[in-house]
Amino acid sequence: MSSSSYKIALALSLMAAPLLCALAAGGDQHRPVLTRLAKDPSTSLYTASVGNGGPGPQLVLDLAGSLVWTTCMPPYRLIPCGGSVSDRLRYTALLKNPKNTAYYIGVTGVAVNNVQVPLPPGALSLSARQGTGGGALSTATPYTALRSDIYRPVRDAFAEATSGFARAPATKPFDLCYQKSALPSTRIGLYTASIDLTLAGGQNWTIVGSSAVVEVSQDAACLAFVDMGTTATPAVDHSPAVIIGGHQMEDNLVVFDLEKWQFGYSGLLLGTMTRCGNFDFSMGSH
Ligand SMILES: *[C@@H]1O[C@H](CO)[C@@H](O)[C@H](O)[C@H]1NC(C)=O
Repeated sequence: MSSSSYKIALALSLMAAPLLCALAAGGDQHRPVLTRLAKDPSTSLYTASVGNGGPGPQLVLDLAGSLVWTTCMPPYRLIPCGGSVSDRLRYTALLKNPKNTAYYIGVTGVAVNNVQVPLPPGALSLSARQGTGGGALSTATPYTALRSDIYRPVRDAFAEATSGFARAPATKPFDLCYQKSALPSTRIGLYTASIDLTLAGGQNWTIVGSSAVVEVSQDAACLAFVDMGTTATPAVDHSPAVIIGGHQMEDNLVVFDLEKWQFGYSGLLLGTMTRCGNFDFSMGSH
């Protein structure tokens, strides 16, 4: 890509789920799509071919206009900037780690059910010199991964906040699981507890409902965060403190705005708009 000035909106949810189900043949878990883009010189449209081996549906990525992704099946529609979804977006500065190519955001604290999780001082900061720490964003990371010294206190706080729900045996890579039947089912998914990531600028990215847990079987759902120390190779080098993964971006609208160097996030859209099938991408004014 020759120009560094562009903006990408990923409506991962909306889109990702049905598509990924098809790709992850037989799999119960949604896996993020990581794909190569091609640019059509005559239209400036980016396209990506997605399929399970053979030729698949063509995704159109419009990075040239006022943007979009649509991973929905045809007919493709565009999400105009300024639509009602955009109104839900909150922004934080988008950061670059000088040591790698990943995008980062500043994470300044973590809270569970509105109670701050005690973390070692500086645990979350990005070291410009060494490139370590900080909050990276990676759709190639299936579940948000926390460095071990952050994961443990967050998991413990979450376990305490959810001590009233019957547990299920741990299922790798997760170590805090619940009997699904014990969890209240809501419009935003199975309800356990909320996790606030406080971002630079003071706003929270609240992870709740189906963003916080993942259903691993008919009977069990687990906290959808993993210990970076136990994952084979994190998708982002230089040991970030947090790697915000695909599961937590699903059913959110996220915007990588490289013009203003900001990252926009909508929070979980379930219950407000839902999925590919009935999501109105053409919303302009209403
Ligand atoms: C962010 O979350 C923390 C912890 O839950 C809370 O104390 C704080 O008021 C929240 N900030 C905003 C701007 O909502």
